[in-house]
Amino acid sequence: MKVTKVGVVGSGIMGGGITEVAALAGNEVILRSREQATAEGTLATIERSLGKRVDKGALSEEQRKETLARITPTSNLHDLAECDLVIESVVEDLPTKRHLFSELDRICQDHTMLATNTSTLPVIEMAMETGRPEKVCGIHFFNPAPAMKLVEVVRPITAADETIETAKAFAEACGKTAVLVKDQAGFIVNALLFPYLNNAVRLLDQGVATMEDIDEAMKGGCGFPMGPFALLDLVGLDTSVAILDALYEEHRDPNYAAVPRLRRMVAAELWGRKSGKGFYDYPRS
Ligand SMILES: NC(=O)c1ccc[n+]([C@@H]2O[C@H](COP(=O)([O-])OP(=O)(O)OC[C@H]3O[C@@H](n4cnc5c(N)ncnc54)[C@H](O)[C@@H]3O)[C@@H](O)[C@H]2O)c1
Repeated sequence: MKVTKVGVVGSGIMGGGITEVAALAGNEVILRSREQATAEGTLATIERSLGKRVDKGALSEEQRKETLARITPTSNLHDLAECDLVIESVVEDLPTKRHLFSELDRICQDHTMLATNTSTLPVIEMAMETGRPEKVCGIHFFNPAPAMKLVEVVRPITAADETIETAKAFAEACGKTAVLVKDQAGFIVNALLFPYLNNAVRLLDQGVATMEDIDEAMKGGCGFPMGPFALLDLVGLDTSVAILDALYEEHRDPNYAAVPRLRRMVAAELWGRKSGKGFYDYPRS
């Protein structure tokens, strides 16, 4: 199936990025947030991001205008009915996502494929909320979606070959490299990444080094573009704890049990960049 009309549900860090990527690739995109004002605010953020591409010479002014014109912000889930593909990117919470999948299944046309951008949650649980589990898969983008090259295409045991092929072709049409992975918590990247991030917080708690020095060590010693604390702030500490909880739930491996400090920071709304403060401060401009 050729995808030309895409729905994105959720207009947080990832929903906005996925919308930008899909629109740049020439798709018509319906961006749905629970509030119309939030959806329009995300469109304004995308407009600024596209403006930066124009400043760098990577996009013409005409292309910027055409890309923006392909995006329709809405608060009405019914506006997604005619999409070829709907990608949900709401909060990393299984009951919320399951409910959303049952609603999308009710609203969308029979041909619509439904995908989740979940970082860790079982895709099969979302697929089974629908009457079309063969048309459900994971399409997992990375943060920031416009910059990061990888997409994990996640195959629940119910998915048809055509669904996986369409998801892979969509990711590649968006300029991404697609890897195929089974529906197991954390897929490839987060299954390997999150024990490392969690253990960095453990090292800090043990007083082995300051967070600044741990970040410097992993940049200088491993060639990583940013250290673990800067990365936790970028991902969002609330999302990070949800990811660790899902990994622990599936594997019962102590390496995945969120270090208590992380949970306390989430309770204190120290979520990282999105709340202005996490391990580091992010003054609002
Ligand atoms: N942050 C990352 O680095 C990253 C990377 C890849 C994938 N993801 C995944 O993307 C998804 C979204 O993460 P994010 O980082 O964009 O989070 P975010 O906190 O920036 O955005 C979450 C969005 O969900 C919406 N939301 C919250 N509760 C809801 C509800 N009950 N019903 C409907 N919508 C609701 C919020 O309004 C917001 O638009 C999650 O599944 C996450 O695991 C995140």
